[in-house]
Amino acid sequence: MHIAMIGTGYVGLVSGACFSEFGVSVTCVDKDATKIERLRQGDIPIFEPGLDHLVASNVAAGRLSFTTDLNAAVKGAEAVFIAVGTPSRRGDGHADLSYVFAAAAEIAGALAGCAGERTVVVTKSTVPVGTGRKVARILGNALPPGRFDVASNPEFLREGSAIQDFMRPDRVVIGTESEHARTVLGALYRPLYLLETPMVFTSLETAELIKYAANAFLATKITFINEMADLCEAVGADVQDIARGIGLDGRIGRKFLHAGPGFGGSCFPKDCQALVRSAELADTHLSIVETVLAVNDARKRRMADRVAAACGGTVAGKTLAVLGLTFKPNTDDMRDSPSLAILPALQTAGARVRAFDPEGMEEARKLMPELDYCGDAYETMGGADALVLITEWNEFRALDLARVKSLLRQPVVIDLRNIYQPDEMLAAGLTYHSIGRPIGPLGGEPASETTAGLRVIA
Ligand SMILES: NC(=O)c1ccc[n+]([C@@H]2O[C@H](COP(=O)([O-])OP(=O)(O)OC[C@H]3O[C@@H](n4cnc5c(N)ncnc54)[C@H](O)[C@@H]3O)[C@@H](O)[C@H]2O)c1
Repeated sequence: MHIAMIGTGYVGLVSGACFSEFGVSVTCVDKDATKIERLRQGDIPIFEPGLDHLVASNVAAGRLSFTTDLNAAVKGAEAVFIAVGTPSRRGDGHADLSYVFAAAAEIAGALAGCAGERTVVVTKSTVPVGTGRKVARILGNALPPGRFDVASNPEFLREGSAIQDFMRPDRVVIGTESEHARTVLGALYRPLYLLETPMVFTSLETAELIKYAANAFLATKITFINEMADLCEAVGADVQDIARGIGLDGRIGRKFLHAGPGFGGSCFPKDCQALVRSAELADTHLSIVETVLAVNDARKRRMADRVAAACGGTVAGKTLAVLGLTFKPNTDDMRDSPSLAILPALQTAGARVRAFDPEGMEEARKLMPELDYCGDAYETMGGADALVLITEWNEFRALDLARVKSLLRQPVVIDLRNIYQPDEMLAAGLTYHSIGRPIGPLGGEPASETTAGLRVIA
């Protein structure tokens, strides 16, 4: 079986490599010639754990290749996946579908130029409900009926654990009205079928909406626990115990109940926005999702105030050591990262920011060139007035606290991910600020001080 993957970004590259691992012959296409050249040299353009080995072994096995030539890749492919970006359209929050439609038109032209095989065109990008029908129209303008089928196969992988997520997904969603498309996609996903992965077959529209509904629900869960954290701070309760106490209820589940600085990343903010816009176009109103977006945006902006409060009310003239810039660990993706809202606000308030991230600094430099980038975690701390933890990379979970204390000018740690225990920080002589937790050892002594909703060990 041969397939083509159009778009070789986080989703296209992982999906292409994983399908090739299933034994399928995959050609990954991208219009970015530099990216394709790097991939041909064995240089993976993104950071995703395990991806370099997966790509190298499948290239060596002759099952995975890279090209800018969409025509050649599509020729003879039984299925062509569209995995291009669907960013927020500037100004109105609708999904920008120009890359999807351009790819569909190129695929239509390529198929029209080659003799009569039947090809399944599958949208893997996250696209608003109704897009699959438009892709079908673009193909139908160039090809006779029977030459193509369309399907929606949204992707649920998470950056940082993308290979595991693709290889062992909770489910595979396939939306199509075509029996042929169902057969081809069923064959492609056969290794997962053998693992008893649930296959959810739906209409095109339903599959498109499942993806948005999933992301909006997860964003809602995060926002809910963040609001609970605010309440915990006000009443002296512990949000981590709340999360455990409710998460053990099977109807709720424990995942996505970690209080933090607000959600970011390349998917949740843009997908929630696009879902709200889709609903408006359909004359309905998704007030929960709208509220989630508003609450989350306000939260990210408020984080800078929290840092200032922890620094005695102002960061003017102070130096901050920041650990973690990406929107989550194990990725180099900076898209919509909370750090992009928090750090410029702190700089505007007069702070000097020294930062370190294990994988995100190359991308971060392009977006926040004015930060002082450091070579490791401890280098950021030398003479700083406070340490701010923004992303929970594993290597930040076991810092040498005595060294942290000796390096900082003021022993202030603001942990926006709750990766440390308040009592261990207290024992290390650090003034520790976290999210939604009371002070001191379990059982919690009352906070001696509350600043801008932050509980403080003093
Ligand atoms: N990143 C994630 O974690 C994730 C997870 C699930 C779903 N998605 C969805 O998958 C889609 C892709 O996301 P991504 O993060 O991989 O995007 P990305 O920006 O990393 O990659 C998109 C790639 O498509 C290429 N491209 C654009 N137009 C092209 C064309 N006409 N021909 C060939 N290549 C073209 C770009 O050069 C780029 O390399 C989006 O709709 C996104 O919402 C992303």
